Amino acid sequence: MDKLKEILSGEPKDLRALDIGTGVGNFIEVLQDSLPGYISIIGVDTSKEILNIAAERFKDGRIKFMHMDGENLELENNSIDVIAISNTLHHLPNREKVLSEIERVLKPKGIFIINEMISDNQSEKQLSHVKIHHLQGELDTLFGMCHDRTFTEQELIDIVDSLSLEKIDMFKYSTHEEQEKSENLEEEKAILDQVFQALELKINKINDMVIRGKYLKALEGLRNELYSVGIFSATELVIVCRKRHSLDFSLTEGGL
Ligand SMILES: C[S@@+](CC[C@H](N)C(=O)[O-])C[C@H]1O[C@@H](n2cnc3c(N)ncnc32)[C@H](O)[C@@H]1O
Repeated sequence: MDKLKEILSGEPKDLRALDIGTGVGNFIEVLQDSLPGYISIIGVDTSKEILNIAAERFKDGRIKFMHMDGENLELENNSIDVIAISNTLHHLPNREKVLSEIERVLKPKGIFIINEMISDNQSEKQLSHVKIHHLQGELDTLFGMCHDRTFTEQELIDIVDSLSLEKIDMFKYSTHEEQEKSENLEEEKAILDQVFQALELKINKINDMVIRGKYLKALEGLRNELYSVGIFSATELVIVCRKRHSLDFSLTEGGL
């Protein structure tokens, strides 16, 4: 992600980074590329199974994985230079607690990066992704996993504005324009087939016949609608913030 690399190019090199809700570590690859010279990157997640898969992927001794809840980071105050959270905010039952932990653990002048797919201002093809994702979210919720609808751009900006961090940059990637250069409806149909198959398997695990029937009908509706449209990934929004130096707080609050 060249744009992130460019934004972070002026930061010191010997950084300690943390990726919250790391999953299989997809965003760790972005951090590795954007923070050349990093001292360590810790990926944390509440799922031990997924962390085991992530640990298999990375052979760099500076990268570690810890089974930890973002709501209760077992890390010291002001100890991490860069904290990232990628496509995880809409999975958190207690988002405020996770965000307050991030603010606590981040060093003054440290960087916080939010990366989230957004749900608004999407092309018709991208809306296919959004609609499928929202159905997945409903099913995950039904099976007891927190998975809300994805945020709009403004909702994400409002989340950042509610923090005591300074927003320093913001950009989008995976836009419709980027993807239309290599548009291939046959490939898109194959992706849709795979996704619909996985969703059907999940729906068939629902015990309640009425609810199962409702979701099978919703899936059929999506099948009919999306085959002719195709699918592109939803646009991702990246917001980069900086934790103010403690002196900045006293100045803005008239403390001096
Ligand atoms: C959709 S995945 C995102 C994975 C990765 N960050 C990416 O961008 O591909 C969301 C991850 O957040 C994890 N998660 C959910 N709640 C969490 C919490 N409270 N603390 C840490 N991880 C959490 C889930 O286990 C899941 O692996």
